[in-house]
Amino acid sequence: MMTDHPQICLAPLRGLTGAIFRNTYVDYFDGIDWAVGPFLTTFGPGRIKASQVTEMLPENNAKMPVVPQILSKTADHFIALAKILIDLGYDTINWNLGCPFPRVAQKMRGSGLLPHPERVDAFLEKVLGVLPGHISVKARLGRQRPDEIFELLSVFNRFPIKELIIHPRTGVQMYTGQPDLNTFEKCLALCRCTVIYNGDINSRADFEKLRQRFPTVHTWMIGRGAVSNPFLPGHIKGYPLPADSIERFRRFHDTLFARYAQVRSGPAHLVDSMKGYWGYFARSFAQGEMLLKQVHKTQHPDQYRPLVARFFDQEAHGNHFSN
Ligand SMILES: Cc1cc2nc3c(=O)[nH]c(=O)nc-3n(C[C@H](O)[C@H](O)[C@H](O)COP(=O)(O)O)c2cc1C
Repeated sequence: MMTDHPQICLAPLRGLTGAIFRNTYVDYFDGIDWAVGPFLTTFGPGRIKASQVTEMLPENNAKMPVVPQILSKTADHFIALAKILIDLGYDTINWNLGCPFPRVAQKMRGSGLLPHPERVDAFLEKVLGVLPGHISVKARLGRQRPDEIFELLSVFNRFPIKELIIHPRTGVQMYTGQPDLNTFEKCLALCRCTVIYNGDINSRADFEKLRQRFPTVHTWMIGRGAVSNPFLPGHIKGYPLPADSIERFRRFHDTLFARYAQVRSGPAHLVDSMKGYWGYFARSFAQGEMLLKQVHKTQHPDQYRPLVARFFDQEAHGNHFSN
């Protein structure tokens, strides 16, 4: 049976969907129910990076519910950081089993753990034995092969995992090729816990197709599509696009910029943060690629701000964000 009110979860995108973005999103848009935060790393028992804790402080996350995510292969290190987060008030911690980057995977973290179900088993056994909270998992189908997931599912099924978020690609695929929907379908049938779908939802049509095919999926995680077009989650839920969509987006952008300006250590660092966003924002504008090239050449807010302001002026009457 098709679920009536799909939930939309914002995907963790490191460098993009941190607390500043999430809070600013809520100030201007609707449609996202909750988020998984970009991964936090462990350094050893008792060693925590202060900026990671600041990012997750409840007062910095009052607007959008968030599940913190940890990237770690060592149960003791995971437990140490997870306990700090649970003490801050979080009841669920997400374990990253998907990060595809070779530098991470070679150290058997993220998707590097997927070919080692026995290690995943030992990790969960240890963590779930002592953690006073829930664990959810975000995984790809495998490191090298999509069928690696099946042995992992037998492991996951042995534990009270709250949710399994599946991005149906392998680690070595990175973001190339298509999500493997046939294997995702098999996972849905085999997995005992709630499964969340994640991958390549870039339009309402993408969402509708997936929803038709997987009617039992209740929660849909969206990353790049929601950063490129922040109206997309609302559009999927049937909220009308406001008449002043470009103006709304412009105010969102300006607030995002102003909030980063308060925390970035220098002008180049600030502009670099905004360049990351334009890699995605640009997709919503016919002239976006051209602007992106120009944005990449800027090194200082004094160059960046007038360039982007001129762009928004020119786009003021265009038709945007309607996918
Ligand atoms: C720039 C970038 C950063 C990412 N950071 C994380 C991360 O911190 N944790 C994680 O689990 N996945 C991370 N991902 C993967 C996304 O959460 C998501 O699984 C992937 O982008 C596919 O979903 P989408 O097509 O909706 O974007 C990242 C992806 C990108 C492109």
